Amino acid sequence: MALNIIILAAGQGKRMNTRLPKVMHILGGLTLLERVIHTASQLNPEKIYVVYGHDGEHIRRTISIKQTSSTANVSGIGLSHLKEAPITWIEQAEQLGTGHAVNQVLPYLNDKDQVLILYGDVPIISFSTLEKLLKHTVTNGLGLLVTTPNNPFGLGRILRNHHGEIIAIVEQKDANTAQQKIQETNTGIMVTSAKNLKKWLPTLKTQNVQQEYYLTDIVAIAVSHACPINDISVTPDEVRGVNNLVELAQLERIYQRQRAEQFMLEGVMIADPERLEIRGEINIAPNAMIDINVILEGHVSIGENCMIGPNTVLRDVIIGENVTIKSHCVIEDAILEDHCIIGPFARIRPGSRIGQHARVGNFVEIKNTTLGENSKVPHLSYVGDTKIGQNVNMGAGTITVNYDGIHKHQTIIKDNAFVGCNSALIAPVEIGENAYIAAGSTITANAPPNQLTIARTKQRSIERWKPKHKRT
Ligand code: UD1
Ligand code: CA
Repeated sequence: MALNIIILAAGQGKRMNTRLPKVMHILGGLTLLERVIHTASQLNPEKIYVVYGHDGEHIRRTISIKQTSSTANVSGIGLSHLKEAPITWIEQAEQLGTGHAVNQVLPYLNDKDQVLILYGDVPIISFSTLEKLLKHTVTNGLGLLVTTPNNPFGLGRILRNHHGEIIAIVEQKDANTAQQKIQETNTGIMVTSAKNLKKWLPTLKTQNVQQEYYLTDIVAIAVSHACPINDISVTPDEVRGVNNLVELAQLERIYQRQRAEQFMLEGVMIADPERLEIRGEINIAPNAMIDINVILEGHVSIGENCMIGPNTVLRDVIIGENVTIKSHCVIEDAILEDHCIIGPFARIRPGSRIGQHARVGNFVEIKNTTLGENSKVPHLSYVGDTKIGQNVNMGAGTITVNYDGIHKHQTIIKDNAFVGCNSALIAPVEIGENAYIAAGSTITANAPPNQLTIARTKQRSIERWKPKHKRT
C-alpha cells in the first residue's frame, strides 16, 4: 500500500485580495505551498500530486525553478527535501470545489494506494501529526484530523451522533443555527484508500449554498457505507488556514513564536521572541545570544557563544563560535570564522570570508573578499575582490578601487602589511608582506614587501603668501 499525497492548491484565494495566487504568499520565508510540500515529502510518499489552477503556471514555475536550482542560497528551508519531492502537477481548470479538485487526481491512483489529502492553505501542519493520523487510520477506513478552535466561524463543523461518532461535516454557509454553535471543526486534512475515493467522489452533488463539490461530503457517504471513521484532534494553531492577509499575519506570528520557543528551550538566549524573524533553515547553537530585531534568512548557522546585536540581518551566513556581531549589520552569503568581531554598522556582501579573530568595524563594506586571521578593517572602508592575509591593518578610509568601469580587478594584500588611512589601492595591485603604505597614498603599482611606499605629493608651505581677499 503506497502512500500518495494530494495537495489542494487550485483555489483562487479571492479573500486575499492580492494578485498573487494564495499558496504563493510567504510564511516564515517560504511560500505556503512549499511548506506543505516540504512536510509532505518528509512522509516519504510515492507521489505528491499538487492540484493547481488559478495562475497555475506561476505556481508551477516558481516551485520547479526551486526544484531544479543548484544554488544553495535560494531562500527557504529544507531545499533538499523540496528538490527531491516527487511532484506531479495536476491542473484543475475550473475550481468547482475541494471534492472536484481531488477528483482530478483519481485517474492517476491505484486502488491499493493510501491517499493523504493536504491543503495548500494550511501550511504549518507538522510531520508528527500527519504520521499519527496515518498510523491511527485503519486499512480502508477514513482518517480525519479535527480541532476545536476558539472561533470556529467560517469552518466546516463536525457532526456527531449521540454515541459521539462522526456522522458528517457541514460547512459554515450550509449550517443551521444549532450546527453553527458546534465548536469542533474540520481541518480539511484526511486520509483514506484510493479505492474508497473512487467509489465516493463520483457520487458528490453540488446541492449546497456555494454550489460546489465539497470533499467534506464524503464523510456522510463513508458513514452510509459503514466505513470506519478514525479521528484525531489537534491544537487549533497547527491547522490554522490562511484565507486573507490578516490570517496570514496571525499565522506568521504563531509560526515565529513556535520557532523562537524551540530555540530557547535548546539554550539559545533570545532577548525577545516577538522581535526575532526566522525565515529559513536556521541552526543556532546553545549559548548564543540574539538581541532584538534580528532577521535570519535562508541558510544560517550560528555557533556556540555568538552574540548577534540588535537590528541585524543575516542571509545565508555560516558563523563559527564566539563571534560578535554588533548592532546594525547586514551580512549576506558569507562565512565568519571563530572569534571575529563585526560592526556596528558593517555590511558584508556575497563571497566574503572573515578569518579567526579578524575585525570588520563601523561603516565598512566588504565584498567578495577574504580577510585573514587577526586582520582588521576597523573604520569607513570599501574592500572588494580582495585577498587579505594575516595581521593586516587597513587604515580608516582605505578603498580598494576594483572597478574600471568595465571590469572588476583583484587586490592582494600579504601578511602583516599596514595600509595607512585614506589610501586608494587601484586594482589589480599587490601589497607585499610587511609593506607599509603611507597614509593618503594612491597606489597604482605593486608595493614591495618590507618597504614603505608613499604615493602622494609632498607637503610644502609657501612663505609670504597672501589670500586674494581678506577673511572677514
Ligand atoms: C475547507 C473545508 C472546511 C474546513 C476548512 C479548513 C471544504 C468544502 N471545506 O473550507 O470544512 O473547515 O477548509 O481550512 O472542503 N481548492 C482547490 N480547488 C477548488 C477549491 C479549493 O484546489 O476547487 C483548494 C484551495 O486552494 C485550498 C483548499 O482547497 O487550498 C481549501 O479551499 P478553501 O476554499 O480555502 O476552503 P475553506 O472554505 O477554507
Ligand atoms: Ca481555506
